[in-house]
Amino acid sequence: MAKSKPAKPAPAADAKPAVHPDIRPGQSIELLKELHILTREGQLNQDSRRKLKQVYHLYQFIEPLLAEVLAGTGDLTLADHGAGKSYLGFILYDLFLKSKEAGTVYGIETRKELVAHSRELVARLDFPRMRFLDVSVEESTGSAELPATIDVVTALHACNTATDDAIRFALAKQARFVVLVPCCQAEVASVLRKNKNASFGLTPLSEIWRHPIHTREFGSQLTNVLRCLQLEAHGYQLTVTELVGWEHSMKNELIIARRTDAPRKNAMERLEKILEELNLTELRSRFAC
Ligand SMILES: C[S@@+](CC[C@H](N)C(=O)[O-])C[C@H]1O[C@@H](n2cnc3c(N)ncnc32)[C@H](O)[C@@H]1O
Repeated sequence: MAKSKPAKPAPAADAKPAVHPDIRPGQSIELLKELHILTREGQLNQDSRRKLKQVYHLYQFIEPLLAEVLAGTGDLTLADHGAGKSYLGFILYDLFLKSKEAGTVYGIETRKELVAHSRELVARLDFPRMRFLDVSVEESTGSAELPATIDVVTALHACNTATDDAIRFALAKQARFVVLVPCCQAEVASVLRKNKNASFGLTPLSEIWRHPIHTREFGSQLTNVLRCLQLEAHGYQLTVTELVGWEHSMKNELIIARRTDAPRKNAMERLEKILEELNLTELRSRFAC
C-alpha cells in the first residue's frame, strides 16, 4: 500500500505572504503593483517577469556607479531622460536611495500625464527625493529646477535624438557617469538617404548604405559610433556592451561612460573625418561639438 504524504502544516495566522523569488529583498511590493509589474493580487505574469528581470539587469550596472558617487561626495544626483513611467528611477530609488539619507532622482519626460502619474506615486509611496519635470531633454539643460551639475545621467530608450540631447545635457552638467540604452535614431539614416546619389560619386563606402534596409541599420549603428566618439572626445572612457536579457528589443546596446577628464586624443579628429568621408558634414553640430 502506498504511503500517504504527511499533511503540510497550516501557515501561522500572522505569517507574512511569501515574497516572490524573482523579487529582490527590500523591494517595495506596493511600488511593483503601482508600476503594474505585480498584479493587484501580488502575482507576476510572464510579461512583467521579463520587465522586472530587465530593469534588475540594468540596475546591476548602475548600482556600483551610484555607490561610487555617494561614497565620494556623500550625495548623489541622477537625471533620467525620457523617463516614461519611470520604472528605472523608481527601482533605483527603492532599492538604493530609499534607505540612504541623501541622493535625488530627477525624471525628465515630455508626456504630462506620465509626469503627473509619477508625482502622485512619489507622494503615495513617500519617496521625498524624487522629482519629475515635464520638459524636453533639451529644455531641461537650462531648467532652474535642476542643479548646475548632475552626477549620473541615464537615458533608456529615449526616442530618436533625445539620446543625443541627453549627451549634451551630460556634458553641460559635467556628469561623472552617463548610461545610455539608445533607441532608434532616424536622423543619421535620413541624411545618408538624402545624400545617397552624391555619395555614390564620392566614395565606394556608399555601398554600405545603398539598400534601404542597410541605410536604416547602418545609420543606426553609425549614430552610436558617433555618440561614442563624441563622449570620448570630451574625456569619457566607455564600456559598450549588450544589454543581455533585452531580447524583445532590437535596441539593446548599452553605453556606460565614465568621466576621466582625459579626452581620447584623436576622437574628435576621427569623428570629423567620418562625417566628411560619409558625406555627413551637415551633422557636425549634432556630434562634433
Ligand atoms: C520608449 S519610452 C522609454 C521610457 C522609459 N525610459 C523606459 O525605458 O521604460 C521613451 C520616452 O521618452 C519620452 N521622450 C521622447 N522624446 C523626449 C524628449 N525630447 N524629451 C523628454 N522626453 C522624451 C517619450 O514621451 C517616452 O515616454
